Amino acid sequence: MVKAGIALKQWAIAAVAMVFLWVSPGVRAQSNEDCMVCHSDNTLVREYEGGRKVSMFVDESALGSSVHAPLGCVDCHQDLAGVADFPHAEEVADVGCGTCHEDLRELHERSVHGIALKKGETEAARCRDCHGTHYILPKSDPRSSVFHLKQPATCGACHGDSGFLQRHPGMPRAAQSYAESIHGKAVLKYGMNIAAVCSDCHGAHDIHARDDADGPLTRPHVAAVCGKCHPSALGSYRSGIHGVVSTEGKTEPAVCTDCHGEHTIRAPTDPSSSVYVTRIVETCSTCHADKEIVGKFGVSVQRVETYRESFHGLGTKYGSTVVANCVSCHQYHDIKPASDPSSSIHPQNLQDTCGQPRCHMGATERFAKSDVHSSITKPDDWVLQLVRAVYILIIGGTLGGMIIHNAIDYAGRRRHKRNTHADA
Ligand code: HEC
Ligand code: HEC
Ligand code: HEC
Ligand code: HEC
Ligand code: HEC
Ligand code: HEC
Ligand code: HEC
Ligand code: HEC
Ligand code: HEC
Ligand code: HEC
Repeated sequence: MVKAGIALKQWAIAAVAMVFLWVSPGVRAQSNEDCMVCHSDNTLVREYEGGRKVSMFVDESALGSSVHAPLGCVDCHQDLAGVADFPHAEEVADVGCGTCHEDLRELHERSVHGIALKKGETEAARCRDCHGTHYILPKSDPRSSVFHLKQPATCGACHGDSGFLQRHPGMPRAAQSYAESIHGKAVLKYGMNIAAVCSDCHGAHDIHARDDADGPLTRPHVAAVCGKCHPSALGSYRSGIHGVVSTEGKTEPAVCTDCHGEHTIRAPTDPSSSVYVTRIVETCSTCHADKEIVGKFGVSVQRVETYRESFHGLGTKYGSTVVANCVSCHQYHDIKPASDPSSSIHPQNLQDTCGQPRCHMGATERFAKSDVHSSITKPDDWVLQLVRAVYILIIGGTLGGMIIHNAIDYAGRRRHKRNTHADA
């Protein structure tokens, strides 16, 4: 219904424009034939200053199958309406798509592209850069340049072009990174129409720069943008401390992109993901080891250091994928403070948290009371020092043993292979 309403409004504006042209005294609206006398010639070329050549051919049948089929040439090229002397002037005014698409023109004028165009940045996107000119199709048509699956290429014509990136230093390599992300692979490799493309996160006409408070992607909005397609992650995030405090208007707590990345989002099982088991500590530490960020909320930065020096921390440091990292104990989307009775680290729940099947099955209440965030390098505690030394020996011994075992196994296999070859 909404779409029909919009169409009706645009056709009404178009009709008013056409009637106006008819009744204006001395103004005769050209028919398309008047124009096609010359513009059906597919060898008609204009040479601009500097030698750039552009074809002046217009394929009327393609225009006729476009979304603007009922429009005449001069509905768009309005400055040529009423011109009787041909050939017309060499310079023709730019087409203002906004005469009919008013709302979108306003959005575009306030966007990063519109603002840049006004400042004289000729490379910023105009309507025609994303939509084309004469052969515009509805966004639902798979051949349209703004069809969901085509958008990475359409935005990427600029944002993925190496010359463009060189001319705009500081601009992220958004299109390349996106192509390697889980969303990019789903769209570009597998044609998955429901995975995120540029406009799902940025909007299409209301795109804003990072530091613009008007944008649809500012920190307070990120969770809602991702949550359109990830409602269950959004739900648990909102119930956790980061979500709760973000909703209160604070910009420091983690939002989706702090943990997952922006254009580099990957499946948690992908070793290059920022939330892969061996990388989580680093990801939480970007804030939890920074006094300027968590210190403001009275949260101690010691948590990271004490973890790093703990048995678990040492295991992670040596690359273990099974030892506990921050989210094994704290959960990930619904992280809650210890004082909250539903928190995984509330004293009442610790026995379950430590006793997870892959961890310390059958952990006793007393075991669960051990201080996991305590340093084991206190110089005066010789028992802990001894345990630490033994622990490192065990880890070193296990790794060393594995290497020796693998070397012997490999040598054995080679000898066996040589022998079987010799037998054959
Ligand atoms: C007598 C031939 C002739 C007719 C009729 C004609 N044009 Fe053109 N048009 C040209 C030529 C030639 C050019 C290339 C510019 C130049 O060399 O003057 C051109 C260029 C253009 C351009 C591009 C200008 C630019 O920005 O480079 C537009 C738009 C255009 N014509 C629209 C129209 C429309 C709309 C009509 C009908 C109302 C029309 N023309 C009728 C010959 C014609
Ligand atoms: C939906 C609007 C629309 C309609 C209808 C339309 N044009 Fe255009 N035309 C454009 C836009 C946009 C450009 C790109 C230049 C600009 O922005 O001024 C363009 C450019 C041109 C050019 C320059 C060469 C090129 O392709 O860039 C010619 C010639 C031209 N139009 C002729 C015509 C003729 C002839 C008709 C009718 C058969 C027509 N146009 C109908 C929007 C339109
Ligand atoms: C930076 C690229 C870009 C620019 C510039 C741009 N558009 Fe779009 N436009 C898109 C994309 C992408 C979509 C499809 C959005 C979606 O998938 O919902 C779209 C959709 C549309 C639609 C379909 C209705 C809708 O809102 O989804 C219309 C009409 C439209 N654009 C007109 C315009 C006009 C007019 C201008 C210039 C004032 C313009 N566009 C500028 C990218 C752009
Ligand atoms: C004279 C009025 C007029 C002008 C000028 C005009 N359009 Fe349209 N446009 C329409 C009408 C009417 C529709 C059909 C509305 C619909 O079906 O949603 C339409 C539809 C569209 C659609 C398809 C919307 C969808 O469903 O995906 C796009 C995209 C679009 N226009 C872009 C442009 C661009 C870009 C320009 C400038 C090059 C432009 N229009 C110039 C009147 C106009
Ligand atoms: C015709 C080239 C072109 C196309 C196509 C284009 N852009 Fe841009 N874009 C630019 C330029 C140039 C700027 C820099 C504007 C400025 O100077 O602030 C920009 C800026 C941006 C910015 C802000 C970046 C910054 O550092 O200020 C975002 C976000 C963005 N574009 C997203 C998109 C998306 C999403 C699409 C597709 C829907 C798209 N662009 C299509 C040329 C383009
Ligand atoms: C899953 C969501 C998502 C998708 C998909 C996505 N982006 Fe982004 N993009 C972001 C976030 C989040 C930021 C950083 C916040 C901001 O710019 O407001 C960002 C930043 C940018 C910037 C830099 C803005 C600045 O001012 O520094 C550009 C340029 C950009 N994206 C272009 C693109 C292009 C082009 C595509 C498609 C190939 C795309 N993005 C796809 C989420 C996304
Ligand atoms: C504090 C860091 C953090 C924040 C903030 C965060 N995530 Fe996650 N997310 C993770 C971790 C860690 C995992 C992987 C857990 C695992 O090992 O399976 C994950 C997993 C996921 C998954 C995979 C499916 C699942 O639920 O396990 C999706 C989808 C996801 N996150 C989306 C989001 C969205 C959307 C937001 C924002 C509303 C968000 N995340 C906020 C850390 C975070
Ligand atoms: C338009 C819908 C859409 C939006 C918006 C979106 N995603 Fe996704 N996302 C998907 C789909 C669909 C997949 C599944 C792709 C696949 O499995 O190949 C996915 C996959 C993921 C995964 C991997 C999940 C897993 O189980 O492996 C993570 C993490 C993720 N998205 C995070 C985000 C974050 C963070 C944002 C916001 C910055 C976001 N997504 C925005 C649709 C979306
Ligand atoms: C972008 C910065 C940022 C990232 C990344 C981040 N956090 Fe936080 N976190 C905060 C801030 C700020 C607070 C303080 C909110 C409050 O307590 O009011 C907080 C609060 C917490 C709390 C509650 C502390 C308390 O005393 O109430 C825990 C637990 C926590 N985070 C764990 C994690 C874990 C685990 C990760 C990684 C999966 C992580 N955080 C990633 C910024 C971050
Ligand atoms: C083996 C389980 C475990 C691991 C691994 C772990 N924590 Fe904790 N964490 C706890 C427990 C239990 C508490 C509450 C008891 C306490 O204060 O020491 C806690 C407390 C905290 C607090 C204060 C919460 C509050 O409400 O006072 C923060 C912040 C925190 N941890 C962050 C982290 C970060 C960041 C990591 C990873 C670098 C991490 N933790 C790793 C179990 C763990």
